[in-house]
Amino acid sequence: MFSSRTDWNTTPNRLSSLASEKHLRGESITDLTESNPTRCEFFYPTEEILSAFTEPSILLYQPETRGLLSTRKAIAEYYAVHGIDITPEQIMLASSTSEAYSYLFKLLCNVGDEVIVPQPSYPLFEYLCQLNDITLRSYRLAYDGEWHTDFPSLQAQFSDRTKAILLVHPNNPTGSYLKQNEFDQICSLASKHHSSLIADEVFGSYNISPDIDCATILTSQSFVPLFSLNGISKLLGLPQLKLSWIVVDGNLQQRNEALNRLDIIADTFLSVNTPIQVALPKLLRCSSDIRNQICLRIQTNYRLLQKVFTDSSTSLLRVEGGWNAILQLPQKYSDDTWAEEILTHQNILVQPGHFFDMVQKSCIVISLLPISGLFDDAILRLHQFIKEK
Ligand SMILES: Cc1ncc(COP(=O)(O)O)c(C=O)c1O
Repeated sequence: MFSSRTDWNTTPNRLSSLASEKHLRGESITDLTESNPTRCEFFYPTEEILSAFTEPSILLYQPETRGLLSTRKAIAEYYAVHGIDITPEQIMLASSTSEAYSYLFKLLCNVGDEVIVPQPSYPLFEYLCQLNDITLRSYRLAYDGEWHTDFPSLQAQFSDRTKAILLVHPNNPTGSYLKQNEFDQICSLASKHHSSLIADEVFGSYNISPDIDCATILTSQSFVPLFSLNGISKLLGLPQLKLSWIVVDGNLQQRNEALNRLDIIADTFLSVNTPIQVALPKLLRCSSDIRNQICLRIQTNYRLLQKVFTDSSTSLLRVEGGWNAILQLPQKYSDDTWAEEILTHQNILVQPGHFFDMVQKSCIVISLLPISGLFDDAILRLHQFIKEK
């Protein structure tokens, strides 16, 4: 009766069954997988946020395929403040980054075409590709004290069905930014293989190591079609308000063609609600305060990890940006076993690296968002537990 594309195995994995059993028994669990900023005790300027939703124009329905011009102007101004020159016409709104990916896959790919994504990376790519009937191929990110694009592995993934290379900048969960020379090489490869570039920059403003030479994607001259994704779930720490956008850039000739086609895709759904579009200009004005709090939190928590994990048996992998950190634990247990042991004995929830397709052994992924007192306590207990194991 149902499509084979939705024939998923929905049996809960052992870690989530274990967590549910503990919740049922009323045990308190410290969740070091928390990625929802609205649950991490940041101070949101409530009055300013709510007042952005009192504009009378919220009651007027103006269906615009790319989104309201006033909203797109505010987004273009946000980029201008950060030294990036784009026009509102280059911006297409969507209700989430996932939806933006879906629009782009529909724009670029026929059934069975391929996109190449980084590994490890964001687990939703697999679902997004399946739901759009396209094939996911992976290129490796290699770690040698910092993360690099493994170019031989990227080159090996191209075929005559490759339509796009995905870049996540910084990547989730590795926290690694693409360096300028890597980006330039990827542009050349995309051009050679007639592919587009999709750059997910949702974590772009959460830089932990400010001294790195990270690529500036939208100011680089890309000769292939380039689609940069961003949105307020990370930029404003407000995922529940559901707004993201695609900046269409790169090859000038193809840019207008892409936008015209995206207009029809977006017009078919018109999914972005009016209140958030009207509110966005005001929200962007108060957003730096929220971002600064999140930046301070992730930097403080990362510094604590650096202070605590100094022994040779456990390595803290280098984080350049984003909301996660990775610990590589002693290899006597797999990542799954470590996560289960940590939850069973310490009531601390972490994610095993293979959830993100990590090939590096015995890695766990932890969120840097939890409030620092709670984070410190869990990390000290975790450190002691790993030492004693
Ligand atoms: C790399 C990456 N892109 C996009 C998203 C989701 O963004 P949105 O909430 O706008 O769909 C996430 C969520 O964690 C992510 O890790």
